[in-house]
Amino acid sequence: DWTSDAFAESTIAELKSQLGNDHVIMALSGGVDSTVAAVLLHEAIGKNLHCIFVDHGLLRKDEYEQVLDSYKNMGLNIKGINAKELFYSRLNGVSEPEQKRKIIGASFIDVFDEASKEVQSQLPEGVEVKWLGQGTIYPDIIESISVKGPSATIKSHHNVGGLPDFMKLKVVEPLKTLFKDEVRRVGKTLDVDPKILGRHPFPGPGLAIRILGDITEDKVRILQEADDIYIRNLKESGWYDKVWQAGTIFLPVQSVGVMGDERTYEHVVALRAVGSLDGMTADWIHLPYDLLAKISNEIINHVKGINRVVYDISSKPPATIEWE
Ligand code: XMP
Repeated sequence: DWTSDAFAESTIAELKSQLGNDHVIMALSGGVDSTVAAVLLHEAIGKNLHCIFVDHGLLRKDEYEQVLDSYKNMGLNIKGINAKELFYSRLNGVSEPEQKRKIIGASFIDVFDEASKEVQSQLPEGVEVKWLGQGTIYPDIIESISVKGPSATIKSHHNVGGLPDFMKLKVVEPLKTLFKDEVRRVGKTLDVDPKILGRHPFPGPGLAIRILGDITEDKVRILQEADDIYIRNLKESGWYDKVWQAGTIFLPVQSVGVMGDERTYEHVVALRAVGSLDGMTADWIHLPYDLLAKISNEIINHVKGINRVVYDISSKPPATIEWE
């Protein structure tokens, strides 16, 4: 007899008594989980919640501006930080997936640490930020335990487990007992922008793990353009809401094509769309051929640098949702 209303009400009350007049700092991602967690915290402690939204230059097209605007409209105390240059320079020449994740995770912590010092410096004497808010949900905890085999980690999710000890913050995770669909219901109860609630999950390292091989600004731009066409078509055709997660992957190969009378030798992107309940298992979605045809044509005709589009027909397991 779980209801989102009751959950929201009791969680806000618990947060109020747990946090009192303490200040909380939190990094938002633009995704469902961190946003709903922030709104619960905001309901409980108002302006004592300080939110930070980092642009690592690996978000989807126009996402940073759009998300920052919705956060401001929701009344959140939010600070946007453009850290593109830092991330691009540290990722320069790196192609190994786990190394990319580690660099992004570490850089994220550096940027966040710097931003939280600034927040702290603006608070009155004697007032200290004591808590770190996180949008961790139940499957994040399970996945981070289950992917660690005795010898190897399959993927290191960079947003699980909090920040390093040196930050000395206690962690508050209001959604850690919920599944994604429950988070969406709580968000609806709290009047969170439906555009944010309906968003597909998006990995913390962003497009970095959808660009196989090394990352350049040019590849990011090409992938953003292609992905924008893909996602827009999914929305226009009504498929976006029927799919749990969709994205475009930039492959580290070039292939021969023909344009007019000219030979081309350009990049390939893969489209992925999966159905899932929690990301732990997933089935590829049978998108209609005519929709795939339209998307493929649009991408090849409009995105300079791409001359071939393929569709990923692998399920998890044995594949994973992301390619890296
Ligand atoms: P995989 O690729 O492991 O992805 O099947 C399962 C779900 O997790 C997302 N994902 C991540 N999310 N940080 C995140 O916040 C990460 O490092 C990360 N890696 C994968 C992925 O998008 C999918 O929803």
